[in-house]
Amino acid sequence: MGGMHEDIDRVLFSESTILEGIERVAADVTEHFRGRDFTVVSVLKGSCIFSADLIRRIPIPLELAFVSASSYGDRTTAGELEISFFPTGEIEGRNLLLVDDILDTGRTMARLKREFLDRGAAEVSTCVFLDKPSRRDVELEPDFRVLEVDDLFVVGYGLDFAGRYRNLPYVGVLEQSIYASVLEPSVDADSNA
Ligand code: IMP
Ligand code: MG
Repeated sequence: MGGMHEDIDRVLFSESTILEGIERVAADVTEHFRGRDFTVVSVLKGSCIFSADLIRRIPIPLELAFVSASSYGDRTTAGELEISFFPTGEIEGRNLLLVDDILDTGRTMARLKREFLDRGAAEVSTCVFLDKPSRRDVELEPDFRVLEVDDLFVVGYGLDFAGRYRNLPYVGVLEQSIYASVLEPSVDADSNA
């Protein structure tokens, strides 16, 4: 009872589809950075699972850093962005690969890219697990992306709804009743980008 799988209306991308896509992107990233030092900057919390699967398929030296970007909007749309930098001192002169769960409006990635360039990064490339191009409101195309999705709110493989469902191994759409239900009146600090 109370299992997460029962809350899923349909699966959009299975675990094997996801991993096949990641193999392809990992090969592209490897070719892009071959022979150059670079740092993978994983955007918490959403990209933790994607980043872990991605970097294990990149067979060249890299460093790993984290940044957190929390948006304080409602549960399905982003509001003000609050950024916490964990990679202090690892930015200047570095080639960075910013890794996020999804490129939706593009505001999070655009803002982070600008912040890292302002802090002296030599290069900031972007890599997203999902791309939702129909929702874009800033001009930003990801340098690398695994899969494209329609304008749907999805969960799983790192993506959350009200802090939950990140641990689903696939990407799916929730039952309508779940989106409609008010889970808990909370500050929702878990709606991390
Ligand atoms: P942005 O609109 O591109 O700035 O995306 C901000 C953040 O919104 C993403 O990093 C996700 O955390 C969240 N987000 C956007 N679309 C979805 C979705 O379909 N499911 C879960 N989170 C999403
Ligand atoms: Mg989120």
